[in-house]
Amino acid sequence: MSEPVQLDKVSGQTTTGHEWDGIRELNTPLPRWWLWVFYACIAFSFVYWIFYPAWPTTSSFTSGVLGQTNRTAALADIAAAQAVRAQMAAGLEKASLAQIAGDPKLLELALAQGKAAFGDNCSPCHGSGGQGQKGYPNLTAGRWLWGGTLDQIQATITHGIRAPNDADTHASAMPSFGKDGILKPEEIRQVANYVRTIDGVEPEQGVDVAAGKKIFLDNCAACHGEDGKGNIEMGSANLTTKVWQYGNDISDLIYTITYARNSVMPAWGQRLDPETIKSLAVYVHSLGGGR
Ligand code: HEC
Ligand code: HEC
Repeated sequence: MSEPVQLDKVSGQTTTGHEWDGIRELNTPLPRWWLWVFYACIAFSFVYWIFYPAWPTTSSFTSGVLGQTNRTAALADIAAAQAVRAQMAAGLEKASLAQIAGDPKLLELALAQGKAAFGDNCSPCHGSGGQGQKGYPNLTAGRWLWGGTLDQIQATITHGIRAPNDADTHASAMPSFGKDGILKPEEIRQVANYVRTIDGVEPEQGVDVAAGKKIFLDNCAACHGEDGKGNIEMGSANLTTKVWQYGNDISDLIYTITYARNSVMPAWGQRLDPETIKSLAVYVHSLGGGR
């Protein structure tokens, strides 16, 4: 509905001439302040288009005279962080493990870097604090397969254990006494019970532990030592520390002796830089088991 433009008596404004069911639309002008803000926004947008990335083109976008994008900003941040890291790593690069351990500043740096790298690379297997889990050794207990000095730990991390792709990896293999028919199931139970006694655990009732001791001396002592304390030359476990990688339940022991475990630890020298490995060695050494 349209009717001629009129002056509205109540508000003093003209009407637009539109009317619905007797209600007429006022022609109130936009407030001044609002208009100025609006014009300022338009002016600002022209300035912005010139300086910053704004318009899409078919394959790219107008980059603006400042060349500023989120990507360039992030790259600049990364470059700055890398420069700071390189400066810190330079100290670790030149220092020996013993020097790092003796210098409080370097030590602090190595421990921080080692802790971060451990969380990223090692904790899935060894647990977030290095406490291990079934099948993966506890690195905090001072019970070492391949030795717990800084240098020994560094060598283990660098080359791994039974790592298929590293010629210098720690290699040794416990025989599968049951699977390969070296010992009968009865003998395996006897030697498993003897192993429990040398770790101070009660053997099963009615098992001939003396026979188990003889089997141990004949078959196991060459690697684990007559006293069962292991040998870090061949990564054979110390069986007398109450710390067990695969458990000391009789069924766990029988499984270990029957099939042998011979687990693999990856060679990290191929994946991590030498400074990170040094930091990891220092960090692992600090977890409570270091020698
Ligand atoms: C895929 C699982 C896995 C990951 C990941 C892993 N490890 Fe291991 N690690 C093992 C296993 C399994 C052994 C024990 C091998 C054996 O039983 O002979 C081991 C052994 C070790 C040992 C030797 C302990 C000893 O008693 O001598 C050290 C040290 C070690 N790991 C450190 C590390 C560090 C540091 C990292 C991270 C950079 C790491 N591991 C990542 C599985 C892993
Ligand atoms: C040729 C050397 C060798 C001989 C012989 C040997 N072992 Fe082992 N044993 C090892 C090595 C190496 C490991 C560590 C392997 C691993 O962790 O995967 C090991 C690990 C073990 C473990 C696991 C310890 C744990 O923390 O869970 C037990 C138990 C064990 N041996 C018992 C025996 C018994 C019993 C015999 C004799 C019947 C025997 N071993 C003979 C080399 C040997």
